[in-house]
Amino acid sequence: MTHEHSTDPPAAEGQSRRTFCATACALMAASLLHGEGQAPGAAEQTPDPHPLKLTEATRAQMTPGQVLDYRKLGAFYLAADDRGIFALTAVCTHRGCLVLSEGPSGFGCPCHDSAYNLQGEVTEGPAKLPLRHLEVKEVEPKGLLQVDISTTVPPGTRL
Ligand code: FES
Repeated sequence: MTHEHSTDPPAAEGQSRRTFCATACALMAASLLHGEGQAPGAAEQTPDPHPLKLTEATRAQMTPGQVLDYRKLGAFYLAADDRGIFALTAVCTHRGCLVLSEGPSGFGCPCHDSAYNLQGEVTEGPAKLPLRHLEVKEVEPKGLLQVDISTTVPPGTRL
């Protein structure tokens, strides 16, 4: 059986495929170099030279179950429960994507569906480790809450 309808010689078809692959590989490498191929939170794993993040929130504004989103300021959430105010990293412990707040019920990771409760404990894998708790301080004179994203504190720590 012959293929009379094919007009491309085999060598030209092979060349075309090689050119396509070379172009695709070059584009993939370029996107990786620019961080586009990383998990959304991967860039957050690079140490921040300015780890003290001043929020506009005060202790008086925080009520149990409240979660404030500071992913853009420093990849963390400020939250409160019955015991007080605390801060959690937004970086998923599985592969570094940024978790999304689900309000008082906790956090969910959009990458592989790990789930954490409000205190950052894993309620559903594949993540195995809890979210890191970060140091929170009140800064005078206005009493604004400041989070040190470079300092991990025990999970029970509250302001
Ligand atoms: S990075 Fe969050 S579940 Fe995989």
